Amino acid sequence: MNRRMGFGLCLLGLVLAGWLALSGSSIGQEQDPDSLSRRDFMRMKLNYTQNILEGLTTRDFGLIISGAEEVERITQAEAWNSNDFADYQKISEELRSVAQHLKKAGQKSNLEAAALRYFELTMKCMDCHQYLRKADF
Ligand code: HEC
Repeated sequence: MNRRMGFGLCLLGLVLAGWLALSGSSIGQEQDPDSLSRRDFMRMKLNYTQNILEGLTTRDFGLIISGAEEVERITQAEAWNSNDFADYQKISEELRSVAQHLKKAGQKSNLEAAALRYFELTMKCMDCHQYLRKADF
C-alpha cells in the first residue's frame, strides 16, 4: 500500500467515524423495546464496517471478506427488511451488491479495488441514513 492510499484510508475512517457520531444522535429517538433491539441489530453494521477498515489497513483479506459477508447477511435478515418503502429496498439492494463486490475484491487480494468498494459501501450507509432522516423515520 502506498502512502497516499494509506492516508486516504485514514481520512475515510475519520470521516466515517465523525458522520456516525453525528447521525447516531438524530436517528430514531423512540425508546420502545422493539426499536431498541432493532437498533442493536442495526448497530452491528458498524462493527462489520470497522472490521473491514481494519482489514484494509492491516492488509488482512480474511477480515475484509468476513466483514463483507456479514454486511451481506445482515441485509437478508428479517429485521432488516421490515421497512417497505421503495427507496429503502432499492438502497438495501445496492448495499448488498457493493458488499458482494467487496468480497470478490478481497478474494482476489486486490487491496485497491477493496478500498474503492469500501468507499462505495460507506456511501450506501450515508444514502440510506439521509433518506431515513428526510422521511422523518
Ligand atoms: C437501506 C437502509 C440502511 C443502510 C444502507 C444502512 N442503514 Fe444503518 N440503519 C438503518 C435503519 C432503518 C436503522 C434503525 C434506526 C432506528 O430504528 O433507530 C439504522 C441504524 C443504524 C445505527 C444505529 C443508530 C442508533 O441510533 O443507534 C448505526 C450505527 C448504523 N445504522 C450504521 C450503519 C452503517 C455503518 C451502514 C453501512 C454499512 C448502514 N448503517 C447502512 C438503515 C440503513
